[in-house]
Amino acid sequence: MSVAPHLARAAERLAAAGVESPRTDVELLAAHVLGVARGELVLAAGFDPAQRARFEDLVASRARRVPVQHLLGRAAFRHIDVAVGPGVFVPRPETELLAGWGISVAAGLPAPIVVDLCSGSGAIALAVGHEVPNARVYAVESDPGALAWLRRNATERAEEGDRPIEVDAADVTDTDALAALTGQVDVLLCNPPYVPDGAAVPPEVADHDPAAAVFGGPDGLAVIRPVIALAAVLLRPGGAVGIEHDDTHAAAVAALLAGGGRFTRIEDHADLAGRPRFATAMAD
Ligand SMILES: C[S@@+](CC[C@H](N)C(=O)[O-])C[C@H]1O[C@@H](n2cnc3c(N)ncnc32)[C@H](O)[C@@H]1O
Repeated sequence: MSVAPHLARAAERLAAAGVESPRTDVELLAAHVLGVARGELVLAAGFDPAQRARFEDLVASRARRVPVQHLLGRAAFRHIDVAVGPGVFVPRPETELLAGWGISVAAGLPAPIVVDLCSGSGAIALAVGHEVPNARVYAVESDPGALAWLRRNATERAEEGDRPIEVDAADVTDTDALAALTGQVDVLLCNPPYVPDGAAVPPEVADHDPAAAVFGGPDGLAVIRPVIALAAVLLRPGGAVGIEHDDTHAAAVAALLAGGGRFTRIEDHADLAGRPRFATAMAD
């Protein structure tokens, strides 16, 4: 029997469990079990008994709202994928836009220094390293659990032939972080925790993303404020900053960037759903 009836039943089960993209998720899980690309599923002869049992287990986990990336062990991000699992934030598609903006700025420079603050799995830093081979990339993260994933992913990308990035265990609320790069950074990117404390989030986030990766204080700006202060210290004149934010925070982040007097050309950028998603600016 082809996999099609299994996929249809599994997708119904996930939809009933409230999963946002049930068909995509069952196709990803089936392709994972069969060891084929998702586009090749139509050609698959079917599951053998062991594969079918494995598929059913994964679907049951997904129905319990375990993130599909945890079940696959990987998250796709631009032209790379990174290892993810318990203890690290799963990189999101909207963040690919922030990374892409930073990559387009850095790609025009001869030997750019790029910093990724709140690096988590390292998705942004490693995507920059992959797409801008002449960049020196620094990834900063404070959480020991996330750092383990970040170091693993950095090693993996270096083994794949990308220029090694530097991983720094540091707190981005400390204005002395990366002090050796003061006034030298060309591009600084950050996807900080920015959901206001207590805001409702789906089970995938509440139960599987680390809280410190998601929640940014009572107003959601507790990490963004010091990140802007640190960007003001680290960027060279003419350097660029890009910071992802909650879709309610475009005006607040623009005001914070304007407030210190260091940044000009402050702009906000929408995500693929048209929601305000990241702010950019240039250092004087
Ligand atoms: C929203 S996640 C972003 C991860 C990754 N950059 C991405 O886009 O997928 C935020 C990350 O910031 C880290 N973080 C939170 N507060 C921090 C701090 N004060 N200093 C350094 N990292 C911090 C969290 O541990 C988490 O890994």
